[in-house]
Amino acid sequence: MCGIIGYVGKRSALPVLLAGLGRLEYRGYDSSGVAVGEGKGIRIVRAAGNLLRLKEKLAAEGPPEGTWGIGHTRWATHGEPSVSNAHPQRSGDGLVAIVHNGIIENAGALRKELSAAGYVFASDTDTESAALLLHSLYRALGDPIASFVAFGRRVEGSFAIAAMFSDRPHEVYGIRRDSPLIAGERDTECFLASDIPALLPYTRRVCYPEENGIVRLDRDGLHFFDRDGCACECPSVSVSWDAEEAQKDGYRHFMRKEMEEQPRVVRDTFLSCSEEACPLTEEEICSLDQILITACGSAYHAGLSAREILEQLVHIPVRVEIASEFRYRMPLCSSRALVIVISQSGETADSLAALRLAKERGFKTLALVNVRGSTMAREAERVVYTRAGPEIAVATTKAYSAQLMAMYVLALHFARVRGCLQGDDLPLTQAARELSFGISRCLQGEEQMQRIAQQIYQLHDIFLVGRGLDHTVCMEGALKLKEVGYLHAEAYAAGELKHGTLSLIERGTPVIGVVTQPRLACKTAGNLAEVKSRGARVVVITTQEEAVFAAADEIVRLPRVHPLFAASLAVIPLQLLAYHVGVLKGLDVDRPRNLAKSVTVE
Ligand code: AGP
Repeated sequence: MCGIIGYVGKRSALPVLLAGLGRLEYRGYDSSGVAVGEGKGIRIVRAAGNLLRLKEKLAAEGPPEGTWGIGHTRWATHGEPSVSNAHPQRSGDGLVAIVHNGIIENAGALRKELSAAGYVFASDTDTESAALLLHSLYRALGDPIASFVAFGRRVEGSFAIAAMFSDRPHEVYGIRRDSPLIAGERDTECFLASDIPALLPYTRRVCYPEENGIVRLDRDGLHFFDRDGCACECPSVSVSWDAEEAQKDGYRHFMRKEMEEQPRVVRDTFLSCSEEACPLTEEEICSLDQILITACGSAYHAGLSAREILEQLVHIPVRVEIASEFRYRMPLCSSRALVIVISQSGETADSLAALRLAKERGFKTLALVNVRGSTMAREAERVVYTRAGPEIAVATTKAYSAQLMAMYVLALHFARVRGCLQGDDLPLTQAARELSFGISRCLQGEEQMQRIAQQIYQLHDIFLVGRGLDHTVCMEGALKLKEVGYLHAEAYAAGELKHGTLSLIERGTPVIGVVTQPRLACKTAGNLAEVKSRGARVVVITTQEEAVFAAADEIVRLPRVHPLFAASLAVIPLQLLAYHVGVLKGLDVDRPRNLAKSVTVE
């Protein structure tokens, strides 16, 4: 998620812009920049890396003195982290400069249209398409508000934009759709930002422009317009949060905030992975006779879920290896295998070593990462990006869900290319597209998971059992309970219980059964009856709406979903359970003891 700041007032804009970007650093970024009005022009300074790099550049070039400007910290989605891809993006004549947070879904079509009209692009970003479209509209219409109205009607996707026009001194404009943008004022100063922390030092009264709403900041204050360009009111609201609370958007922890972001993140990942060209050619996809997935932790669990989907849809053998094992074992696999490395950070030492080993052995490699410009993104021959945005909590939630979605899209594409989808694959694609709605509904089941957390948080052992895809979800749920609840949670293939583990079940032992696969439901129900008869307290998490589970003391009912994608829903109550166990135990769920967000050491 990028950071945006805008200012119009009586002071030098630069210090306000830099201080505002500093308060948005927590969102994660890989480059930054500012645009400041100066006389009849706009001065733009950008730098890759952190804000220190930008400040050094400003000091070297001499800071701009203007009293109006915009600033940006960029989390790369389209185009690598670089100065040319940093914001502000501008028109070639310097008339328009914009900063943007979101995804312009029709950027490609706009780029073609604008190039045909003679525009020359200087970056790989979707934002530049927006900047040049705004320029063309402003040149045609001559009025900023009318230009933004036309802009909103032409652009598809999500955006929060702050913009300046060199022939409009002491004015900054904003427009938003889906992405957050807030405005505030104090005395004769006006502020615009993508997030509350940037405004808190100046004002605690903020305005939230409506969907597709437009705002102008000038020396008379804030002026709001609706999507048709009609002036409208935008009531201010008082913010009581402190800076840290504001960074969490009012949630108590980043982990809880990031869980809530999963519907949007999954939708964005579906859209971007569906629209971006697959990094393998059709010939390469058809030549594959094996896929090997390697990763660590939750990314490994995402790989286990992906195996089920790939084997069922693409009909080729898939192996999943823990990267720290793979790198010392390098299992034999076919020369026509594809090695997929999954990693949120793109920096995990074991996964990076596994990638390098696979490359050394001559295998096709593909990195599925969340961070553009990360080491794995740069070293893999092929890259697929998730759109989770920066993930602050050590325990991954939204990045894991995005990894699942990216693998669904890849598997569907492979299956289409290899002719494995009999007839129309639209129902499957539609089911994947609609997952974000199911995830939203699962998040609404928080109260039940809070209650179950109350029942187990003081216990020491808990078992999670399932078969097939359900077992992979149990593994992720168990890891969450360990990571943030410090609870010894064991994930078990339900059919394995009777081969030893059943001896651990005694009166009151909590067992969670995950049941989302219709063809395995009866078997797992039988295993749950086995533990129930030995005194276990059984909770069932299921998408089987009508199913009766005689052994269940409690049932967590999830929305119906295609079984292949059920892991995306079943993991949500387990994330909520782990989170509330940690909260009840008074633990730091965002920064659990002994753990790091990215394990860059062996
Ligand atoms: C997951 O909650 C953990 N933070 C951890 O298992 C993580 O998934 C693992 O370290 C892999 O990290 P990566 O995805 O950045 O490679």
